[in-house]
Amino acid sequence: MKKRLFITFLVLIVALFTIYRISVKAPSGNYPLQNKATAIFIKGGCLSCHSANPDLPFYADLPVIGNMVKNDSKEGYRMFDMTPMMTALENGILPSPVDVAKVEKVTMDGTMPPAQYYLVHWGSEMTSTKRDIIIEWVTDYREEYYADGLQGERAGEPIRPIPLTVAVDARKAELGRILYHDVRLSSDNTVSCATCHGLNTAGVDNKQYSEGVQGQLGGVNAPTVFNAVFNFVQFWDGRATTLAEQAAGPPLNPVEMASTSFDEIIAKLQADKELTQAFTEAYPDGWSEANITNAIEMFEMTLITPNSRFDKYLRGDDNAITAVEKEGYELFKKYNCATCHVGINLGGESYELMGLRKHYFADRNMEMTVEDDGRYKVTQQERDRHRFKVPSLRNVALTWPYYHDGSQASLKEAVCKMGTYQSGVELTDEEEDKIVAFLNTLTGEYEGKTLTNDNTQPIQ
Ligand code: HEC
Ligand code: HEC
Ligand code: HEC
Repeated sequence: MKKRLFITFLVLIVALFTIYRISVKAPSGNYPLQNKATAIFIKGGCLSCHSANPDLPFYADLPVIGNMVKNDSKEGYRMFDMTPMMTALENGILPSPVDVAKVEKVTMDGTMPPAQYYLVHWGSEMTSTKRDIIIEWVTDYREEYYADGLQGERAGEPIRPIPLTVAVDARKAELGRILYHDVRLSSDNTVSCATCHGLNTAGVDNKQYSEGVQGQLGGVNAPTVFNAVFNFVQFWDGRATTLAEQAAGPPLNPVEMASTSFDEIIAKLQADKELTQAFTEAYPDGWSEANITNAIEMFEMTLITPNSRFDKYLRGDDNAITAVEKEGYELFKKYNCATCHVGINLGGESYELMGLRKHYFADRNMEMTVEDDGRYKVTQQERDRHRFKVPSLRNVALTWPYYHDGSQASLKEAVCKMGTYQSGVELTDEEEDKIVAFLNTLTGEYEGKTLTNDNTQPIQ
């Protein structure tokens, strides 16, 4: 009798365990990796804490536990909105490389879904089988998304090399080069694009705020024009979607070039017979805002800096960077930097909250300005306040000072504060030096020569 009971008990345990295993097993079948990954995210309940209007469980209305659930969901959504990624996956579209990098990181770290979730949601925990599926899917995704031919162990890297060339209409790009350096775009013929984005000064002016006509100061730091073509939108707040749209801004901006209209600019350019003839050969309908900004865009598409030492490393040359620089890169990945600074530009692919892990603006000893609102200026959505387009880190050693407010004079200080405010870690002095060493390998070549900056960085 006792023996029968024992066997029944044993069978029950095995049955229960099997049911448990089946329910937590990664979804299997013949459907592609992407569908498996999607199923893992659905089962993992990611959207219950990472979307605007989650379907909260019934116990979210209970006291105490309900508050915990709501707080998790609120904090999760502040950190990361996963709706665009899930929508893309369910429609068979490639999601944003930033979202993929973020999900990859928490998967490797084993931090999501959090224990308080998987302990009460049968089968939602991240098992090693599921993790392997996600990691394989991420590598596949990057090979397809970037199509840059990275091989072997580098095929799945979150950072990708700059293409060696970008196709442009050379004649139009040459006209764009002339216009880029032409002070006639400004009201008093003193300022050109190159005044603030000199090609001999790494595409920046190395000032906290730029100086426009008659020494007027803007309210935000000038990013570099080099590799801007790889940004998903332009400006810190993303208000221009293309380089041409961007180029229409400065000429009429009252504190930059201060022209009153493109007609005013065109009247000056038309008086230049030689340039007008060359321009009409490339653009048969002649001078217009659209044609001028198109030419400038064509020129900016040539402002790329491939062949940095780091890109050589990505393409397979193990000796292109030193052991210390490699350690710096590993730290850059370990501390989440490569979840926002991703892709070709190590940035320029998403808007991110400045002060994700600690309130940056509360600690900053500067008055708040309208520029600090970031993306909010464009959308008027509260969620977008203090979100900025992530700046590119290409050639970052040459583009001081740093941040939208130009508040960081040194790269090391900029790195240190990123640790505190964006990653939630206090980096050691040695770690900062290693990350800076890695960032130094991102200086590329323009027209076959290593990019340099004629300005010298002030001593800190
Ligand atoms: C119970 C709510 C909850 C669930 C379920 C959940 N998360 Fe989270 N998630 C959070 C919270 C809270 C944070 C912020 C905590 C932290 O990282 O310190 C967070 C942080 C993250 C971050 C980090 C954002 C950043 O930039 O640092 C990512 C990415 C993420 N979650 C992805 C996922 C994925 C993928 C899933 C599903 C497999 C998931 N989460 C499930 C609550 C949740
Ligand atoms: C007076 C200095 C000044 C002049 C002149 C100027 N810019 Fe800028 N540029 C800036 C500043 C400051 C920003 C950042 C503004 C912002 O994000 O709101 C910027 C942003 C940009 C960006 C966006 C880069 C990014 O990563 O978002 C590009 C591209 C650019 N400028 C190209 C040009 C071109 C082309 C011209 C000439 C038509 C020009 N600029 C004239 C100062 C200047
Ligand atoms: C949550 C996203 C996020 C993470 C994580 C992150 N960054 Fe940033 N990074 C940003 C944003 C946004 C800015 C612009 C901040 C501003 O202008 O106020 C920035 C700016 C920078 C800059 C200045 C670039 C310039 O030209 O102004 C450097 C350098 C930098 N980050 C390095 C790092 C390093 C190193 C780490 C890891 C320790 C890191 N970041 C982690 C989003 C992030």
